[in-house]
Amino acid sequence: MARRRRLIYGNFKMQLGIAATRAWLADVLPVLEPAVGVEAVVFPSFVCLALAKAAVGGAPLGLGAQDVSPHGEGAYTGDVSASMLREAGCSHVLVAHSERRRYHGEDDELARRKLRAALASGLRPVYCVGESLEQYDRGEAAAVVAGQVRTGLEGFTPEEVGRVVVAYEPVWAIGTGRSARPEHAARAAQWIRDEVATMYMREVAKEMPVLYGGSVSPSNVGAYLTQPGVDGVLAGGASQAPETYLGLLEAAR
Ligand code: 13P
Repeated sequence: MARRRRLIYGNFKMQLGIAATRAWLADVLPVLEPAVGVEAVVFPSFVCLALAKAAVGGAPLGLGAQDVSPHGEGAYTGDVSASMLREAGCSHVLVAHSERRRYHGEDDELARRKLRAALASGLRPVYCVGESLEQYDRGEAAAVVAGQVRTGLEGFTPEEVGRVVVAYEPVWAIGTGRSARPEHAARAAQWIRDEVATMYMREVAKEMPVLYGGSVSPSNVGAYLTQPGVDGVLAGGASQAPETYLGLLEAAR
């Protein structure tokens, strides 16, 4: 069986501004080698997307945004539409990151509308799901993740759902240094696929890329990438320094 593609995604959050993003790209792009079977994508701040696109040129680095408006266009001050993101050079977009859920009250219904907007414009959405620490402690992780998948991914065609990447990011592992056990990430990937298989077709669930995120580092990434059903990682902190992002890519090769 051919090895599945490994996805090494980096979320810059609100950590890297224009100067820092330029510096990151200046460090990474010259040493970035096209790696067969590895897909590298980073998610800079909105204000850095156009400059990042110009710097990347034909280098093997994809670009994504950290959020997208559920609206196509119109009087929505502060929103950025999916077609604007395409125009800025994005191929990907994060949807319903736990920090959007937590600080902006985003729920699974809004996630579904954002997923629809992203898919309609030809963006590849990365739908973020994951339980809180309280839910984890109460043993509700499987039910929470399945519910997020059920509501967020409801009502699409199998072809549309086939273009979604799901990132499992347990809230308690994000930015805490307390990464989930690799076996827990593999179990969560299975919960996600089981739900997608029930909603759509088993084939869609099998092909769907599922990522793990939460305190991923160059030293632990290998343990996730070798888990069954885990196709890659969505790193925050480790993606924001050039040497650690390159370390993640190196491990994926
Ligand atoms: P950290 O890798 O910093 O824990 O962040 C994970 C994350 O939120 C990626 O989207």
